[in-house]
Amino acid sequence: MQAFSAQTSDKIPAHVPPELIYEFDIARDPRMLEDPHARMRSLLFEAPPIFYSPCNGGQWMVTRKQTIVDMTMKPEVFSNGSAGEKKDATGGLTLLPISVDPPQHTMYRTPLNQQLAAKSVAGLEPSIRAMTNELIDKVLAAGRCDFLSDIAEPLPVTLFLKLAGMPTNRLAEFRELALRASSATVDPATRAETFKHIAGILAETIMARQQKREDDLLSRLLDANLDGRNPNFQEMMGYSILLFLGGLDTVVNALSFGVRRLARDQELQAKLRAEPGLIPGAVEELLRLHGVVCIPRRVARDEVYQGVQFKQGDAVLLLLPAANYDEAAFSNPEQFILGRKEQHQTFNTGPHRCVGLNLARLEMKVFYEEWLKRVPPFRLDPQAPPKFMGGFSLSVTSLPLVWG
Ligand code: HEM
Repeated sequence: MQAFSAQTSDKIPAHVPPELIYEFDIARDPRMLEDPHARMRSLLFEAPPIFYSPCNGGQWMVTRKQTIVDMTMKPEVFSNGSAGEKKDATGGLTLLPISVDPPQHTMYRTPLNQQLAAKSVAGLEPSIRAMTNELIDKVLAAGRCDFLSDIAEPLPVTLFLKLAGMPTNRLAEFRELALRASSATVDPATRAETFKHIAGILAETIMARQQKREDDLLSRLLDANLDGRNPNFQEMMGYSILLFLGGLDTVVNALSFGVRRLARDQELQAKLRAEPGLIPGAVEELLRLHGVVCIPRRVARDEVYQGVQFKQGDAVLLLLPAANYDEAAFSNPEQFILGRKEQHQTFNTGPHRCVGLNLARLEMKVFYEEWLKRVPPFRLDPQAPPKFMGGFSLSVTSLPLVWG
């Protein structure tokens, strides 16, 4: 067991036994800043499979794949309904469908399943390809870029505007808002203000679509069938804010970690350039090796689970990026292996499994196809190593690349 300061020990609830305590500050741990995935993987060796960290208000953390899969199937115990942070961050708005548990969740989830099904998002492919190429045009001749700010951030914001049917000439404004909304360093007042601003813009668009439908996701959601009625204005806000939040930061970081991996592996780059048909498989393995979000749950009732006493109200964090390195679930988990059969945990499992995964996969596939076709072998800038940030999201904050 680690040694704790008196201040830290004060925060440990009485039902947590000493052998399950492991102090891990997901936001500030220096090893998270060095290499977030290596740190996540180390938890499988250094901490109990379910451990309690007293940092950041105190919470249970779970690292094993099968345990996470089982917990996601027990929403009556490990609930999304009061998972907390998501709702606070959005000024009290209920994010749909993520902040509700089954059976109510099913009603809210069904319309998104239809709208974001693989064949529904396939129509976006030409736009994604065009956007990717526009971004590549801007950096190609320079022989260098900061992948994060030049490519990874603008791509999903532009796509969100397109999907939601919002004018892409508001790109700069939205990008700035998205950056502020997801920044771990922003103060709570600024964050709340930013969400208000985003909500204001989305509200404007929803009201415009209430007057006149267009060929876009928000128009189709307005006509969605929620057990025989259409979503009301608050519900539309809950949907649209979650789509905004869910699809930006996640894709930005997934792309950035994936490209960092390729920048350090010339052999893999060459293989994918020579055989673009391997890209969809590579996307999955890059997603496994570089999970990007840890997912909160709140304990809904006292329960002893896998020998651990959970108490109602306890916070639980499912460390999906760690679970992807679980040796019980993946053979040689640290290796990049094309064509693995095991399903990774990056999109989670259970009723809340990412509904945007078809879009995310499409974005990444098209991006890698165009990038590898047009950009010569690229590597990390030897003068400027990438920078990372910890937190619920594993983030890249700068990724300078060079080529030619
Ligand atoms: C690589 C990119 C992405 C990753 C890693 C990711 C990850 C996740 C994860 C782990 C969950 C489950 C949350 C939970 O169990 O509580 C989730 C849910 C969700 N994601 Fe994604 N996501 C990505 C892209 C997207 C995109 C592009 C969209 C929007 C189109 C999106 C929209 C959503 C929504 C709406 C939910 C809530 C689903 C529900 O509650 O039923 N995600 N995502």
